[in-house]
Amino acid sequence: MSEQQRPQAETDAPVFSPRKNGQAQSVSDELAGWMRTGWADTEMRDLEPIEQAEHTARRRATISAAFPGDRLVIPSGQYLTRSNDTEYPFRAATNYAYLTGDTTDGNCLVLTPKADGGHDVVLYLKPRSNRDNGEFWLGGYGELWTGRRNSLEEAAALLGVATADVRTLPAALRADTTVTTRVVRGHDAEIDAVVDELRADTDEESRAKSAKLDEDLGVALADHRLVKDEWEIAQLQLAVDATTRGFGDVAKALPQAKDTSERYVEGTFFLRARVEGNDVGYGTIAASGANATTLHWTRNDGPVREGDLLLLDAGVETTTLYTADVTRTMPVSGTFTDLQRKVYDLVYAAQEAGIAAVAPGKPFTDFHHASQRVLAEGLVEWGLLEGPVERVLELGLQRRYTLHGTGHMLGLDVHDCAVSRQETHLYGDLKPGMVLTVEPGLYFQPDDLTVPEELRGIGVRIEDDILVTEDGRTVMSAGLPRSSADVEAWLAERLPR
Ligand code: GLY
Ligand code: MN
Ligand code: MN
Repeated sequence: MSEQQRPQAETDAPVFSPRKNGQAQSVSDELAGWMRTGWADTEMRDLEPIEQAEHTARRRATISAAFPGDRLVIPSGQYLTRSNDTEYPFRAATNYAYLTGDTTDGNCLVLTPKADGGHDVVLYLKPRSNRDNGEFWLGGYGELWTGRRNSLEEAAALLGVATADVRTLPAALRADTTVTTRVVRGHDAEIDAVVDELRADTDEESRAKSAKLDEDLGVALADHRLVKDEWEIAQLQLAVDATTRGFGDVAKALPQAKDTSERYVEGTFFLRARVEGNDVGYGTIAASGANATTLHWTRNDGPVREGDLLLLDAGVETTTLYTADVTRTMPVSGTFTDLQRKVYDLVYAAQEAGIAAVAPGKPFTDFHHASQRVLAEGLVEWGLLEGPVERVLELGLQRRYTLHGTGHMLGLDVHDCAVSRQETHLYGDLKPGMVLTVEPGLYFQPDDLTVPEELRGIGVRIEDDILVTEDGRTVMSAGLPRSSADVEAWLAERLPR
């Protein structure tokens, strides 16, 4: 973050510096005075808290209890400059959104320990643009350029938390140099720098201790996010349902994709994501033909050919920032060839085994092993790997063609809770309320001489989003077909005749 975006001066200073490159370089006193006046009072009063507020309060209480006596600093993050005064799209930091329900930029949640236990919670926000100093129309990020912000009072009512002007944050942090401070690092360089200044670490050992303070806060938050509350599960279902509609859009648009490229697939899905949600939750993978063997093919600039498979891995992110993560591999013509079906059906069998292994109390790694076993058995049966299957699995030889893990946690982040503790996540047991993907795949690279020529260039992945329930699982993405026959029937309903 630069000073351009947040001066540390008094609260009547502009939030942002003047716009660059303006053609009108000066402002007459008459115009400045006129612009100050004639504006209606638009303050929104009697606002009700957002639905999520009761959940964010509970989440904050849990994290408060986990770090008694410590000050916790959780920034939303800043816009990243693309060039000059043009920015990349902003997406609030996950832990900030989780603890506040807010998704706007340049803010920071602070939990300050109270003498008698617990924490005072204050959300430091950008206030409304100042009309008196002209910032609202002359500032690079004034409200007449970027849109109205909530006032501090409005935000307090909506989010159910005390608010303060973010320009007072550095001073508020500096006011207490003795309290142990932990920051979710890497989202706001200025806030990180203020925390570093407070710590004044002078040697490697104290720097390492400080890094551990921050890391432990991030780990605790990721651990806490592993089990979704009912509101989060409903948001994830919204994300999945919008994604299902996006896949339907793509099926209908396959003729135009054939006339253009994979970009038509990406763009078609993106339209659904922007209309129904905030964005896509990750770069859409629209991979046709041999591009499907590149796991994260996001260039999406290849042709979509009749006779090829199209692997679409895409997810809508809701306006509250929860994302789906779904993959379907579909024949562009509407019908699998015998060979494509053979590969697809093996991946489908592996996914069935993986999904069946998702249940409360089961180790997180079980579904991966269940899927890998089915794939290894199939590859041995086809003569691509030399048995016995136990040896293949022990040596992991199937991985030449399966390449990736069979799934991951899903939530605010597509690869959710990645930094949580191994004992609660990777080597932990599944719990009701966890949401994860099951996504086995087979990928035969176009230049892989170990496979028969006809298999080269075929890539298949099937990915669904699964909620762990009290007595088993729910396939949240069951609105999309999975078996080869069902995919064909689904395409037949959507492909123009
Ligand atoms: N879309 C990336 C993944 O499936 O993990
Ligand atoms: Mn995934
Ligand atoms: Mn995916």
